[in-house]
Amino acid sequence: MGTPHNAANRGDIAQTILLPGDPLRAKMIAETYFENPARFNSVRNMFGYTGTYHGKRVSVMGTGMGIPSMAIYSYELIHIYGVRNLIRIGTCGAMTERLKLGDIVMAQGSCTDSNYAHQYRLPGTFSALASYELLRLAVNAADKKEFPYMVGNVVSSDVFYKQENEWKRWADMGCLASEMESYALYCNAARAGVNALAIFTVSDSMVTGEQTSAEARQNSFTNMMEVALDVAAQLSD
Ligand code: HPA
Repeated sequence: MGTPHNAANRGDIAQTILLPGDPLRAKMIAETYFENPARFNSVRNMFGYTGTYHGKRVSVMGTGMGIPSMAIYSYELIHIYGVRNLIRIGTCGAMTERLKLGDIVMAQGSCTDSNYAHQYRLPGTFSALASYELLRLAVNAADKKEFPYMVGNVVSSDVFYKQENEWKRWADMGCLASEMESYALYCNAARAGVNALAIFTVSDSMVTGEQTSAEARQNSFTNMMEVALDVAAQLSD
């Protein structure tokens, strides 16, 4: 039995999953990197696949864009399907001149302008953090491959088309980049006691206004996918 959003049966999804926003990216990753990929979901065209990578059982599934969409899919993956390690791979907009297009950002922490954590009725604000274990594996993988990266805070925003210069206040607090899903992923993982990590490729720069060409986007995305797959391959099934 599946969920309203996922047709997979229990047991169809591995304990470790890669989560790109774009479901066609999930299809591409499964077809390019997995041995024997099998599709477990196509509800709403939110494709998900399970296969093996270097002998380890791994899944990949799209999440859609934004905190609510990520929240639904990741909640079900954790609570219905027993997923323990969730690795978001996506793009981000750089908020510091130290990041170049194509660089990797690893979200050690995630800030937000969303009200997502309101549901927990905390007597304060929640600092959403990556799993240190997954982050350490990702840093080691990027070092080994000599890919350029930065580790730090990001802002996970409900707003893509922001009011002018609003991003600068987050940049003033040391946030490296803007994206739209990691806060929900980190909250869901924290509440459930499972592991999450969000890593991004810089696709555009709020500082310079530069944007990645389609070709460069493809190449630079490859570095991030290799890091995520390297992490997945080191986790137990
Ligand atoms: N903001 C939010 N999400 C993004 C951005 C951005 O600037 N670039 C790529 N994903």
